[in-house]
Amino acid sequence: MDRRGISNVLYVFAIVWAVSARPIQSTWLSEDFYSDDCPDLMQIMRDAMNVTAENDPVNLPAILRLFAHDAMVNGVDGSVLLDSKPGAKLPADKAEKDAPINLSLFGFEAVEFLKGEVEMACPGVVSCADVLTIAAQLSIEMSGGPVYQSLLGRRDGKVSRYNDAVAQLPTETMSLDQLNANFASIGLDQTDLVVLSGAHTIGFAHCEAFSKRIYNFSSTDPIDPTMDWTLADQLKHVCPLKPDPNTVQALDITTIETFDESFYFNLQINEGLLASDQLLYTSDATSPLVDQFAADKTAFFDSFVTSMIKLGNVGVLTGTQGEIREVCSMVNPSPPPPPRASPPPPPPRASPPPPPRASPPPPPRASPPPPPRASPPPPPRASPPPPPRASPPPPPPSAL
Ligand SMILES: *[C@@H]1O[C@H](CO)[C@@H](O)[C@H](O)[C@H]1NC(C)=O
Ligand SMILES: *[C@@H]1O[C@H](CO)[C@@H](O)[C@H](O)[C@H]1NC(C)=O
Ligand SMILES: *[C@@H]1O[C@H](CO)[C@@H](O)[C@H](O)[C@H]1NC(C)=O
Repeated sequence: MDRRGISNVLYVFAIVWAVSARPIQSTWLSEDFYSDDCPDLMQIMRDAMNVTAENDPVNLPAILRLFAHDAMVNGVDGSVLLDSKPGAKLPADKAEKDAPINLSLFGFEAVEFLKGEVEMACPGVVSCADVLTIAAQLSIEMSGGPVYQSLLGRRDGKVSRYNDAVAQLPTETMSLDQLNANFASIGLDQTDLVVLSGAHTIGFAHCEAFSKRIYNFSSTDPIDPTMDWTLADQLKHVCPLKPDPNTVQALDITTIETFDESFYFNLQINEGLLASDQLLYTSDATSPLVDQFAADKTAFFDSFVTSMIKLGNVGVLTGTQGEIREVCSMVNPSPPPPPRASPPPPPPRASPPPPPRASPPPPPRASPPPPPRASPPPPPRASPPPPPRASPPPPPPSAL
């Protein structure tokens, strides 16, 4: 099974419980932003997401994770989707997606397909940042999670920096204080942390994200005492000391592909895989919320929507900022230079044609291309969905 794309920490999402009933307002974004210029946007996205999920169900958690990573590094501006510039060698010259903390992000082809479908109907109108936002919303809905409508109107950024990803993404070894500081830096709070961690209900992790907890926790405890011993034993079978780097394990071991509250229930019985998840229950500051969500799915869903909207507001570009990218993996080509002051022959009026919509194919990524997942070029909308992958394996060992 090849799920190399899913990765370490799906830090996705979460609001203060006490104020979760209060709608989050955004000055700039609105639910009906595209109602004039792309009235069928949501239906186009739903149809394309259906194709995407049929093609590979893992695209759903992968897209949710891409959204979170986009939001947490300089805001929801589509920067996580940008490729490194061709020839970039030094880390500092590379893009977010190539950072070591890349956690082998996955789902880029799916997002490019979604964007292509939207471009066919509404060329140059809908940003990649909004395509990703809607895709994350629908991933949640299609996995059985809450149904809501995102706020829209974001524009796409033009820069993506490796070093920003390294500096700004949280990691699974952080303490609660560190996680809180990380969330606070983008205007989210401890409740958002607990709520958005619940996205791990459909997340996956590579073995390295928790192997220290099962093999080499401390000089006195080889196994993390806050992990259930039976679980640790089972995890050792999935993840030997030298695991295949592509092996992944579901973070919610009870209902892998369903978006529900069982992630919190797992924490109550010491069955959180990531240290940064389990500490939400071992910390007095956050355990009451874990208890509440484990017992009340509606409370979790309501809070989740509030926190997702909040996360979607982080660092957005609006108005005339940024641009509407044609393809999500690269910024638009610069416009042709203006005609010179005294041109010998006046430049032909008709000359500056808009760049072809069909747009240049994204340059090959520096990193090994993802496995052949039925090809990126968007099929005409009417056509049948691409065939499912040869072997649509169920997600990793559910038998845990
Ligand atoms: C895609 O749409 C078809 C037809 O409505 C439906 O039967 C199928 O379950 C959908 N697939 C997914 C993954 O949502
Ligand atoms: C992720 O980053 C690590 C460290 O830089 C690198 O070795 C690995 O190949 C990268 N993975 C992918 C899928 O790009
Ligand atoms: C366990 O951790 C110690 C200290 O970090 C390290 O020296 C040792 O190599 C580790 N052992 C294994 C099996 O990873």
